[in-house]
Amino acid sequence: MSTESTATTTNAQLFERAQAVIPGGVNSPVRAFRAVGGTPRFIRSAQGAYMVDAEGQRYIDYIGSWGPMILGHGHPAVLEAVQRAANEGFSYGAPTEREVELVEAIIEQVPSVEQLRLVSSGTEAAMSAIRLARGATGRSLLVKFEGCYHGHADALLVKAGSGLATFGHPTSAGVPAEVVQHTMVLEYNNVEQLEEAFALQGADIACVMVEPIAGNMNFVRASVPFMTRLRELCTQHGALLVLDEVMSGFRVALGSAQSIYAKLIPGFRPDVSVFGKVIGGGMPLAAFGASRAVMQHLAPLGPVYQAGTLSGNPVATACGLATLREISKPGFFEALGAKTRRLVDGLEAAGREAGVPLVGDCEGGMFGFFFAGELPQNYKTVMAGGSERFNRFFHAMLDRGVYLAPAMYEAGFVSAAHSDADIDATLEAAHAALRTL
Ligand SMILES: Cc1ncc(COP(=O)(O)O)c(C=O)c1O
Repeated sequence: MSTESTATTTNAQLFERAQAVIPGGVNSPVRAFRAVGGTPRFIRSAQGAYMVDAEGQRYIDYIGSWGPMILGHGHPAVLEAVQRAANEGFSYGAPTEREVELVEAIIEQVPSVEQLRLVSSGTEAAMSAIRLARGATGRSLLVKFEGCYHGHADALLVKAGSGLATFGHPTSAGVPAEVVQHTMVLEYNNVEQLEEAFALQGADIACVMVEPIAGNMNFVRASVPFMTRLRELCTQHGALLVLDEVMSGFRVALGSAQSIYAKLIPGFRPDVSVFGKVIGGGMPLAAFGASRAVMQHLAPLGPVYQAGTLSGNPVATACGLATLREISKPGFFEALGAKTRRLVDGLEAAGREAGVPLVGDCEGGMFGFFFAGELPQNYKTVMAGGSERFNRFFHAMLDRGVYLAPAMYEAGFVSAAHSDADIDATLEAAHAALRTL
């Protein structure tokens, strides 16, 4: 394998080579560009707000590794911390001071969490949080919402049945129907359905898992009445409220989305929180946490088993810790939020100018936009239309050096490394792209 051959290889050649040995040519399906069509870009390197593909084409990056790269790529402080940690050893399979430091740093920003367990992926964290909730409550039923993604554990790959009293159906082959019998799927932001579900089966519900700001159906906020009632019903019925903040955690605010809801709903706090992405700064690291009383159920203290060879990995924790230090600096989220808002406002203005219906929303460094007249409130309305327009817009932007998420149901991410000039260049590209739709 020579470096020269890599330098002259095209994305298409790499994709063909990848497809021979990796299913679909990718190690995570959305990377294959199936939703938008075309050839995935094989990334050679990334720095700051930019990624460079195998053909040397540079893109302004609005994926940020699907959320983690809140500082942009190759932030010097993070790089230095990772290099130092790598010199000290990759993995020990024994505890380290650094993992304690990272957990302390996370807990400091999230008052609902007294104890935390580190794992290696968001999937693992969400799956473990559900087992913990089931173990702590002695109940089996899990409630989730259509359009929220919590990783690819069996019990989570399910779509709603024909009514609340009917079983859901697996959305993936290989998931036995019996496995999803304990998962109930409801409509996001639908208070009535929530009431009905608790009235029907409240005593069996171990937990309700929800993305407080759903980033897996583009960008949809849980409404305040919905979140308020969700909290009340969980408390009334002894079910645990699990906030999946894998995407929103340390991304929409330093205190995560729960800090935003705590300002809007007096006394609001989740029972269990799930984190990932930003807390690892781009390394495989995630976590789930709760009160001490709930976390006591976990092995080795309690009967709920959970473990991991690479959990709390010393290089990953160094990366996460350095990232958290940077984003904890005064003014970080104000600046990031203002920049992201300017991008979303600019996209809406470009839509108006081009006569294309376009609405957007954002919080901190996370954003979404829809080719629609108003912001959707649930999965059905997110998916109601606009996909062809989105796909054309995606490619028109990519051709202009702007890399958006390659599917209309995915959120976008702005980093601290995006400059005003990058936002301007993006908006200029959007004006031109929208005119071609
Ligand atoms: C909200 C949410 N939960 C869980 C996951 C799963 O995380 P991972 O891909 O690290 O397994 C994701 C991934 O995008 C996510 O967005």
